[in-house]
Amino acid sequence: MTGEPRSMQRRTIRSPPSSAEGQCVRIDSLLEDDEQRSLARDALEGLRRPRKQMPSKHFYDSRGSALFDQICELPEYYPTRAEREILSTHAVEIAKLTHAAELVELGAGTAAKTRALLRALDDQGALRRYVPIDVTSAVVEDCAVALSSEFPRLTVHGVICDFERHLRHLPASGSKPRLLALLGGTIGNFTPAGRVRLLREISAMLAPGDHLLLGTDLVKDPCVLEAAYNDSAGVTAEFNRNLLHVMNSALDGNFDPASFDHVAVFDEQEEWIEMRLRSKRKQTVSLGALELSVHFEEGEEMRTEISAKFTRRRVESELESAGLAIVRWFTDGEGMFALTLARPAT
Ligand code: SAH
Ligand code: AVI
Repeated sequence: MTGEPRSMQRRTIRSPPSSAEGQCVRIDSLLEDDEQRSLARDALEGLRRPRKQMPSKHFYDSRGSALFDQICELPEYYPTRAEREILSTHAVEIAKLTHAAELVELGAGTAAKTRALLRALDDQGALRRYVPIDVTSAVVEDCAVALSSEFPRLTVHGVICDFERHLRHLPASGSKPRLLALLGGTIGNFTPAGRVRLLREISAMLAPGDHLLLGTDLVKDPCVLEAAYNDSAGVTAEFNRNLLHVMNSALDGNFDPASFDHVAVFDEQEEWIEMRLRSKRKQTVSLGALELSVHFEEGEEMRTEISAKFTRRRVESELESAGLAIVRWFTDGEGMFALTLARPAT
């Protein structure tokens, strides 16, 4: 680990057996009870505002991650299919352009789409290490173990952490060059200022010869966008309400999830989908661990997620302000989603 302050706790959850035959998996966690503190801090900050809001990263406990996986299979939710199409069409080209010896994936989840990229990099022969990073511990553990048996030549080093806070404490680059991936459109879940901050931190992790692979959902017909976040099976609504389950269990809360409606609308000015929870009635909720009472008027909304939609020009300018330049811009056949390969500009 690099430049680790004394307060930074790294817990090794799994390390490779000394006589490592094939299975070379290591998993570290940088979270400890720190994660709970971050939820507490975000709740204290976000629920006391005149317009209540919570960061979307708190959706993802084990249940939230499973609900997200279900979303990816929904007929209305096109981003996963579109990005998978791009990856399966262009993975070999990306492997040739990057020659990556190490793939570091932020917000890897179950790494379902990453397989195509890993396969292409592995076939090319340079890939040595895969570093899946996610805030949900069970997801990192399962993903790292599964990938290590699917790719026996690889060292898999899973890291459980919050990539908004812990990028500086990631394992130092093992083999070079490095490819850093942020797929699925997760960059869109940050505000413009948060995106620039994150892209600058990512940029600082890249040396000449390294690359970033960035997935972004594209601006399109608002009806298509809103349908993707208002699926007819109600899975996205349940995913949205999962934030309340998370706060109930981690912060000793008494939210009644059934008393909140799921709302997802496209804000044409901001060019983002905004997900909210709307209180069906006037109610006061308590979060025992914070000694906090939160009052909701009937119809009052709490913002739970933004999901920004991009144009090529916006991707280019945000990358540029982080010191990165586009190498290739790939889209699916219908132009729904983009994957950008970028490199340090100098
Ligand atoms: N990359 C996958 C998963 C996207 S879902 C795909 O494209 O399908 C977003 C993932 O990012 C979730 O697994 C969530 O747990 C993770 N995530 C969100 N915010 C995070 C943060 N601040 N730090 C670490 N992981 C985060
Ligand atoms: C992870 N992220 C890119 C998803 C999105 O589309 O913004 C999360 C999601 N929210 C609702 N559906 C999916």
